[in-house]
Amino acid sequence: MYEKIQETVKYLQDKGLSTPDYGIILGTGLGSLVSIIDIKIKILYSEIPNFPVSTVSGHSGTLIYGELSGKTILAFQGRFHYYEGWNMQQVTFPVRVMKFLGIEKLIVSNASGGVNPNFSVGDIMLLNDHINMMPEHPLRGKNDDRFGVRFVDMHEAYDHQMLANMEEIAKENKIKVQKGVYLALQGPTFETPAEYRMVGLLGADAVGMSTVPEVIVARHMNMKCLGISVITDLGFEGHIEEVSHEAVQEAAKLAEGKLCKLIEDFVLRN
Ligand code: HPA
Repeated sequence: MYEKIQETVKYLQDKGLSTPDYGIILGTGLGSLVSIIDIKIKILYSEIPNFPVSTVSGHSGTLIYGELSGKTILAFQGRFHYYEGWNMQQVTFPVRVMKFLGIEKLIVSNASGGVNPNFSVGDIMLLNDHINMMPEHPLRGKNDDRFGVRFVDMHEAYDHQMLANMEEIAKENKIKVQKGVYLALQGPTFETPAEYRMVGLLGADAVGMSTVPEVIVARHMNMKCLGISVITDLGFEGHIEEVSHEAVQEAAKLAEGKLCKLIEDFVLRN
C-alpha cells in the first residue's frame, strides 16, 4: 500500500498540488462547501491512480484543491463507504494520501441520525469522541511503521483545541452547535428503533456509517482531527420516522449555510 500511496501523491504533486493547510472530507449533502472555495485544481476521482470510485448519489467523487480564507485546502467531495463494498484500506486511502501530501489537520463531516433527545434535525454536532462498531478495523493486519505505531492511542481522537476553537467560532457567529459522541455502524440500512435505542444506551449521541475509519487512520499518522456531524434525522422515542437517503440529503442542506460559515471562519483563524 505504501508504494501505491506514493504513486498517487506523486500524481497529485505533478498536477500542481503542493502541501495544503487543511484536508476536508465532505459528507452527504455538504458538498456545497466547494462553492466558497477558490478552486485552483479539480480532479475526478476516476482520473486519480489507485483511487476507488464512489458509487452513491450525492457523493460526486471530485478532488478539489484551492483556497479558502487565505489557506490552501484539499477537499474530498465524495467519500468511500464500507457498505459500498470497499475494504477499510480503500475507505481510508485518501487519508493516507493526505498525510503524505503533508497535511496535518483534517476536517471530517458527515450526516448522522441523532439519538440524543435534545437534538433536532438540522443541528450541527461537533464530535468529541466516537465509538467504533464497524465490523472491520482499518489497522488490522501487519503494521507498517512508516505510517504509525502498532497500538494507536485514541484518548483524544478529536483534537480538543480544534474543537474548542470551533465552539468559540460558533458562539461568535451565534450558531448553535451540539457536542457529542458519534457511533459508526456499517449500514447501508438505517437503524431499527431497537438499534437506535441500543446506540443511545451505548453512550452515543449520533449514529452514522462513516468517519470513524478515516479518523482512526488519521490518528495512526498523528493528524489532528475535527469531526462535524449534521443531524439529519432523529432516532429516539417518539421521534423515529421513516428515513431515506433523499430525506437525509434534504435535511443536510438545512445546515449547509451554517456549516460553510463555521468552516470558513475556522480555517481563517487556525
Ligand atoms: N443512521 C445512519 N446513518 C445515517 C443516519 C442514520 O440515522 N442519518 C444519516 N446518516
